Amino acid sequence: IFSQVELAPADPILGLTDAFKADVREHKVNLGVGIYKDESGQTPILKSVKFAEEKLLATEKSKSYLGMEGVEAYNRAVQTLLFGAEHEVVSQSRALTAQAPGGTGSLRVAAEFLVRHTDSKKIWISNPTWANHNNIFSTAGLDIAEYGYYQAETHSLDFDAMLADLQSAQAGDLVLLHGCCHNPTGIDLNIAQWQQIADLCLANGLVPLFDFAYQGFGAGVEEDAQGLRIVANTVPELIVANSFSKNFGLYNERIGAVTVVGSNSEQTVNAFSQIKSTIRASYSNPPAHGALIVSTILEDAALKQLWHDELQEMRERIAEMRTLFVASLKSAGVSQDFEFISRQNGMFSFSGLNKDQVNRLKEEFAVYIVGSGRISVAGMTKTNMPVICAAIAKVL
Ligand code: LMR
Repeated sequence: IFSQVELAPADPILGLTDAFKADVREHKVNLGVGIYKDESGQTPILKSVKFAEEKLLATEKSKSYLGMEGVEAYNRAVQTLLFGAEHEVVSQSRALTAQAPGGTGSLRVAAEFLVRHTDSKKIWISNPTWANHNNIFSTAGLDIAEYGYYQAETHSLDFDAMLADLQSAQAGDLVLLHGCCHNPTGIDLNIAQWQQIADLCLANGLVPLFDFAYQGFGAGVEEDAQGLRIVANTVPELIVANSFSKNFGLYNERIGAVTVVGSNSEQTVNAFSQIKSTIRASYSNPPAHGALIVSTILEDAALKQLWHDELQEMRERIAEMRTLFVASLKSAGVSQDFEFISRQNGMFSFSGLNKDQVNRLKEEFAVYIVGSGRISVAGMTKTNMPVICAAIAKVL
């Protein structure tokens, strides 16, 4: 049977990591996948995570199965991070959360549930968006439509196009929204724009599906949740897929969650029961370690403060690299204006480099960035910056 199987195309992001690993050039730099590096070029384990793991090692009593929805304390902590401590979707029992494997696993569980148990068969995604969105949603069986988001000439948000495209969505259609630090553009909605999108969803019966993978990498943990909270204050139903890969540095623990918010507690319970049956048919129940790390940190005031401090340090280092990147391009002799990069949020800068230039960066200079021109600023250091900027200056 395998004689009929064709070779799969390389993944636009993870395939780059494979190519990078195979590259023997010593000065190579991987700015493809979104992974935080510290100033020494390492992806550190946070101190708060290490302390939590020590505590778990000393106190954990059993490796028995979790329920399909995962660790209860973790799921409660997720809701507090997403909505804040007192939000009405929590106090009115309209939100239920299931731990799931990372952002991708959470989105996939949500999509499988929607396809099988609701009439929502179409999802609107931004153009551009994370390269895996299309893959996840189409594999689950959703139809995909795109809304405008980015104006290439001005390197800014095309909010008019976003509104106009979403006006043509039908009641029951899903709208994928990036909670903060839009991937790949780094351009987010402001408060007034979030409210306009929330109002549009309410008026036309559209259902928001949040991908919230970078909470704390924009302006701060609370600040970055403002868009989500505005939408949750406005619409009756939504779904959130969140991830702790980046903000807890728990990439390989695959720890995220899917949260359903219904218009009343009974409907939420019904929807959640089908989320659980989707999980049962997929991986039965989640692994415990990542969730226990997160809940141990968030339930301990001192560990929680340490995590906030470490997250702030990561956020500030990325911001520093962003400014240095713009300045270093100038010093490398680039006359083109790259100032827009300093206005983008999160791990990525959407550079405007074209496919040819991206390819030359890889082939001639061993600098790996995503084909869309997305560069992981979080992978830049003071040491590799001159190499990166000299290479970009050559391909421009
Ligand atoms: C990215 O966009 O680089 C990350 O979210 C990692 C991934 O899985 O693609």
